[in-house]
Amino acid sequence: MDKKVSALLNEQINKEFYSAYLYLDMANYYTRVGLDGFANWFEIQAQEEQAHGMLMYEFLHNNDEVVTLEAIAKPDKVYQKYDEPLREALSHEKYVTDSINTIYTAAREVQDYRTMQFLDWFIKEQGEEEKNANDLITKMELFGNDPKGLYLLDSELAARVFTAPSLTL
Ligand code: FEO
Repeated sequence: MDKKVSALLNEQINKEFYSAYLYLDMANYYTRVGLDGFANWFEIQAQEEQAHGMLMYEFLHNNDEVVTLEAIAKPDKVYQKYDEPLREALSHEKYVTDSINTIYTAAREVQDYRTMQFLDWFIKEQGEEEKNANDLITKMELFGNDPKGLYLLDSELAARVFTAPSLTL
């Protein structure tokens, strides 16, 4: 594999695990303020991010590449309002989308079709992740200012369950 592509995939493993940590910290915030459904939603989001990191880890190993695990940064955001983690999540997903696109561009430049095909799933997934983040903000704007609305939204988010990504390497 091209060294630049391999290095970018290695960095992306770290970004996915950082994403897991960031979302776990959002779950941490929502648990503290008593919104257990929002906390559940972000705990599951954290599990998804770990799964994304593991897919990249396995893909590199399957291609006989060296995996280097770097330190995961501390999530350092302080949230004051219920909608702040939601807005941060959308902005973070846009950052991840850019990052995946950068790897795709590097793979395309060296005609690494295998990595491009691997990344196809992530490109689609980023579309879904941004949509989910956007939808949550919209729902919060519509219902979050009313206690009953917030309770129902929290109950809806409590129902989310983790399903492992259906991607075969
Ligand atoms: Fe792994 Fe939220 O993208």
